[in-house]
Amino acid sequence: MSLAKHGYPRPVILKNGEEVWLRPLDPLVDEARLFGFLGRFSEEDRWYLENDVSDPEIVRNYLLGFHPSRMIPIVAIDDLERIVGKASLNRFHAPGARGHIGRIRVLVDPEYRGQRLGTFMLLDMIQLSVNLGLRMLITEFIKGIEDKAIRAARKLDFFEQAVLPDYAKDRRGNNYDLAIMVKRLHGDFEDF
Ligand SMILES: CC(C)(COP(=O)(O)OP(=O)(O)OC[C@H]1O[C@@H](n2cnc3c(N)ncnc32)[C@H](O)[C@@H]1OP(=O)(O)O)[C@@H](O)C(=O)NCCC(=O)NCCS
Repeated sequence: MSLAKHGYPRPVILKNGEEVWLRPLDPLVDEARLFGFLGRFSEEDRWYLENDVSDPEIVRNYLLGFHPSRMIPIVAIDDLERIVGKASLNRFHAPGARGHIGRIRVLVDPEYRGQRLGTFMLLDMIQLSVNLGLRMLITEFIKGIEDKAIRAARKLDFFEQAVLPDYAKDRRGNNYDLAIMVKRLHGDFEDF
């Protein structure tokens, strides 16, 4: 399936009535937008990201230099043409033992939180995964830190299937568990 068939750009209406558009990240035109988006995160938020987004080389290599067969990044664009949310669907090589699995991460601009954008982006990732023929989605959250994301994932039928105790650390060195949440997909119908 090509991404075009998934119907991007797709509009979503937030809780406050504002419209934003979801579409794939385009490394050729979105570099400045992506740096702007990442620059609006607090130090606290950045601590929990998987990549050091304060390093431009890391942003260019990992977030802009992705291989489309391994990662599909979707961004939310507001009416000022800013990126205000980003979701990524990470895949393994297919066919192969893990070819049916997708791993999802979602990040929302601090100003746009609590407006259901995270939920809509997660829902979009689920629909995209169904269209791509994936059978299982995995997402990991730090318990006690990413609880809002856990609530959003539960509402979309992700189940906590494992917990890794004392997995992550906060900036003071306290330990937090990691919840591994899984959603099984069915190929012959869309859940939503
Ligand atoms: C986690 C994150 C993606 C959620 O995005 P969001 O757009 O704010 O989330 P939503 O508005 O869809 O809210 C999801 C649920 O979280 C809960 N929630 C949201 N804001 C809340 C608040 N201020 N207080 C309590 N619960 C809240 C609610 O249960 C909500 O569902 P509801 O609106 O249907 O009641 C966003 O906060 C974020 O980017 N955080 C930093 C990075 C992160 O934690 N990423 C997760 C790892 S993938």
